[in-house]
Amino acid sequence: MLGHRPTHVEIDLDALRHNFYQARQQAGDRQVLAVVKADAYGHGAGKVAPALQAVGADLFGVAMLEEGVELRGAGIERPILVLGGLYPGQEEELFRQRLTPALFDLEAARRLNEAARRQGVICPFHLKIDTGMSRVGFRPEELAEVLPRLAGMRALQLQGVLSHLALADEPEHPFTDEQLTRFRACLARVRQAGFTPAQIHLSNSAALFTGELPETNLVRPGIALYGGVPADHFAGRLDLRPVMSFRTSVAQIKSIPAGTGVSYGHRFRAGRPTVLATIPVGYADGYSRQLSGKGEVLLRGQRARVAGTVCMDWTLLDVTDIPGVAVGDQVTLLGRDNGQAITAEEWAQRIGTISYEVFCQVSKRVPRIYRGG
Ligand SMILES: Cc1ncc(COP(=O)(O)O)c(C=O)c1O
Repeated sequence: MLGHRPTHVEIDLDALRHNFYQARQQAGDRQVLAVVKADAYGHGAGKVAPALQAVGADLFGVAMLEEGVELRGAGIERPILVLGGLYPGQEEELFRQRLTPALFDLEAARRLNEAARRQGVICPFHLKIDTGMSRVGFRPEELAEVLPRLAGMRALQLQGVLSHLALADEPEHPFTDEQLTRFRACLARVRQAGFTPAQIHLSNSAALFTGELPETNLVRPGIALYGGVPADHFAGRLDLRPVMSFRTSVAQIKSIPAGTGVSYGHRFRAGRPTVLATIPVGYADGYSRQLSGKGEVLLRGQRARVAGTVCMDWTLLDVTDIPGVAVGDQVTLLGRDNGQAITAEEWAQRIGTISYEVFCQVSKRVPRIYRGG
């Protein structure tokens, strides 16, 4: 068998299914669209989506057409919503792969309608409304012009209406109510224009676990499926299990005298005789260079700190206070070891980002190993 570098990610499909059941329970009788864009937030959409389909995910959400094509290749039969819309020239592939676009500009709608007419198909779509994220979506005041134009596009069928919340992770913030009010008003206008959308949706993970949105009948959790805490105030309050662990093992041990400089820029200088463990992981793997001098990992059930600058392929750990560290010892960058844990939230906080980015940064060259069949 081909030997391999020990750096890898473990994906716990049992934890994924557990999190899905939590979301399903919270969703009540609403449909669950599993957001698996960006390669299932770095977890590997080709394995994650089939596992979720098998336990009853109703739909899947991706950011771009190519991600939808990958899901079809992985055996996904359920509807796939392309949240990021459609670019010129993608129409026929969209029909071939039976993907559903979110539409938020009239030119894309016109092109899609033309292409659908030429092919003799009726293409379902979801209407994306910008109720306050100011990202993509028709603004409420545009609907007076947009809705009659869409009604005239006979090869398109409005199947759903969606919007996205900007502040769902801040439950006390009044702007979420403001977005809801705008969404309700837009929905009324859509219906007045003669459309009968079957699917109405607004909730990401934070909104889903915050409470009911009676006008919606579909929810769109992403981060919660991967065990990420959707917002700080949920910490310790949700029964979600981290799905990803990131591990490697010690490649080399060296003892250096006090005063020795370590790694690029010698930003770490040993203040005492020091034992260093070199691990084969670096920023090219997604171990952020911002963790230089700050990151912590688990080794022999204890925490060890990153010494100096994280390199492209290597990182150095100060293991002076951990007796007996040896080449081959397992190192946990993310996940549990001996009753301790490094969470994505802890990692994110150290470098001023969010768990989403920690997951998505784990690069393609790190093999994903799936557990829990
Ligand atoms: C339109 C849309 N819906 C749902 C989600 C899922 O959000 P979360 O991962 O916070 O649950 C995202 C993620 O960014 C999104 O862009």
